[in-house]
Amino acid sequence: MKGLDDKVAYRHATKAGNRGDVWKHAILFGVARRLIDQHQHRVQDGSPFLYAESHAGPGRYCLTKGGKWEKGIGSVCGASLTPDIAKLFSTDHEEYRGSWVMVRDLLQQMGCPGRMKLWETDPEAASAARSNASPQEKVCTSDGFVGVASANADLTLIDPPYRADDDWRAAGLLAQTLHSQGRSFLLWYHIAWPSKPQALVDFLGLPSHEALWAPFGEMPSQNSKGCGIIASGDVEHFLADLNLPQIAQSFHAKYVQRYPAPQART
Ligand SMILES: C[S@@+](CC[C@H](N)C(=O)[O-])C[C@H]1O[C@@H](n2cnc3c(N)ncnc32)[C@H](O)[C@@H]1O
Repeated sequence: MKGLDDKVAYRHATKAGNRGDVWKHAILFGVARRLIDQHQHRVQDGSPFLYAESHAGPGRYCLTKGGKWEKGIGSVCGASLTPDIAKLFSTDHEEYRGSWVMVRDLLQQMGCPGRMKLWETDPEAASAARSNASPQEKVCTSDGFVGVASANADLTLIDPPYRADDDWRAAGLLAQTLHSQGRSFLLWYHIAWPSKPQALVDFLGLPSHEALWAPFGEMPSQNSKGCGIIASGDVEHFLADLNLPQIAQSFHAKYVQRYPAPQART
């Protein structure tokens, strides 16, 4: 796939705990909790909850002074958040748990057996992920856009770095595939300018939930202005219970919903 080498060069370590992670991980936590709860009620034989990630990262990050986390988890005001979400970001300012480690801890807290299928192409990040993983968590080093499509997971996080335009196309096609399989997923994207998020929302015909922390200005620029999450139809209604405007406000962002354009729906 074109651009794979570019994507391999991406390292999340300097960005861990940034504003995009606050939005992604608060929503992931809320949705995972509801799905695990449903799973526990539905499954009587103790079968594990299967979680998958297309772009997993190492799972644990050391926070260093001056890192992007200072404007993210470092600036979250927990006062208006529910205690469980506030606790997610009440960091010791030394280490931050990435997405799948957070879900693993949640499974343990809820007493639910879990399995994970994780994809990570960067050799260093994959090796760190393997040392952070337990035997129930399998880390694959092939392309996550391909691998996760046949994982048949109870919840999938699609979380590419969007370093190449190709990531937008591949993320949309993967979400469409999971949608057609009736799988629950969350798809995260960053926003520099609204045209790519709008094209993605139009392509999928699903709304998105955005946190914006800077105005777009008059001309396209590459600076990060916010981020968004698209949820599969079956988990979309969980988001209403999460009080997304308050979560956005807790890190000085504004909550906005993006809808498919009317002509894209026909
Ligand atoms: C945004 S980070 C992941 C963060 C993680 N999901 C979290 O929230 O804690 C994206 C990761 O995707 C990896 N990556 C890039 N292209 C990939 C691909 N095609 N398949 C799997 N992993 C890839 C990068 O090496 C990077 O570690």
